[in-house]
Amino acid sequence: MKAIITAGGKGTRLRPLTFTNNKHLIPIANKPILEYAIDTIKNAGIEDIGIIYNDNLQELKDFIEQNNNFGVNITYIHQLSPIGLADCVRVSKDFIKDSKFIMFLGDNMLASDIKDLKESFEKDTVNHSYLLLTKVDDPQRFGVPIFGKNKELIGIEEKPKNPKTDLAVVGIYFYDHHVFEAFEGKDKITPSKRGELEISDLHQYLIDHGYKINTYNVTGWWKDTGKINDLLLAQRLILEKHHKFKIESPIKDTVIEGDVEIKKGCRIENSFIRGPATIGANSEIISSYIGPFSSIGNECVVTGSEIENSIILDYSSIIDVGYRIDSSLVGKNSRITKKNRVPKSLSTK
Ligand code: DAU
Repeated sequence: MKAIITAGGKGTRLRPLTFTNNKHLIPIANKPILEYAIDTIKNAGIEDIGIIYNDNLQELKDFIEQNNNFGVNITYIHQLSPIGLADCVRVSKDFIKDSKFIMFLGDNMLASDIKDLKESFEKDTVNHSYLLLTKVDDPQRFGVPIFGKNKELIGIEEKPKNPKTDLAVVGIYFYDHHVFEAFEGKDKITPSKRGELEISDLHQYLIDHGYKINTYNVTGWWKDTGKINDLLLAQRLILEKHHKFKIESPIKDTVIEGDVEIKKGCRIENSFIRGPATIGANSEIISSYIGPFSSIGNECVVTGSEIENSIILDYSSIIDVGYRIDSSLVGKNSRITKKNRVPKSLSTK
């Protein structure tokens, strides 16, 4: 079996961060979102992974090559522009050939593994696709299934205004090669009102053409990290799950409480760090408080400041900020200081 991961798209909901960075490389607990997807696929026993990109190849390649391709075979698949998730399937045809495959949305994170499902789909001679479902508070944001009288799947609605269930289709899809028929012939799928080749239309095509889809309810948590609050919640869930963190740098006059990870080369002085929290390599934490569910990237400087439940990206400085930075995402290379002259304000210069 093969897998494709989507790593293109516009990243509009995470602007301005995504003007300069691919959103799939934003770290959660100091590990890029994309890496969680690669790990989940690799742990399921899949070694051939296609990564779909639009215009950000070098950044993705650099990250993947720095990590020795994560020990799997990576193929980069170009999608000319982000015109829909079904288009991601379409452009992957040459890579997939007639193999069964998983499409994993690169911004989705799943706590449970998919090894059993992958093994069962590999052997399955009845079903042509597996879809994972989970209960959500806001089904309007997702693909939502519709079930018939006998609880059989009869349709999928994309982002419905009035959802018929509180279930969302998770962004991890299992397909066989029949899926490519949806792009051929007179009844092939066409762009939706918002101009995208919708993944839900692809699923509807399979249902309408007699291809069997099995659905599974996901246990444990699942996150679509499309918005900042989702990223913060995902980080919370990851950090809560982590145990046996290591402290790899010397610490001086500092109280460490709970599960705290400190990477090599850090200078930690006169501070209070309450876990779960993680601090990247070569960072300085001086006279500061780092509270639960925080991640401080590599090469950051935090002095005289308080941070909680936040993601601070690499090379950022947070200097003598008189307020607590809470539930925030601070972009790469940012500098936040407090001005002492009137009017008092926070500044990123
Ligand atoms: O997260 C689950 C949901 O994902 C499903 O319930 C929906 O049915 C499905 O349409 C999708 O909705 P989103 O609005 O969250 O999809 P989004 O446009 O954010 O794209 C998901 C990922 O795919 C993200 O990593 C960006 C990437 N992408 C997206 C498009 C549209 C591409 O690489 N190319 C594209 O053309």
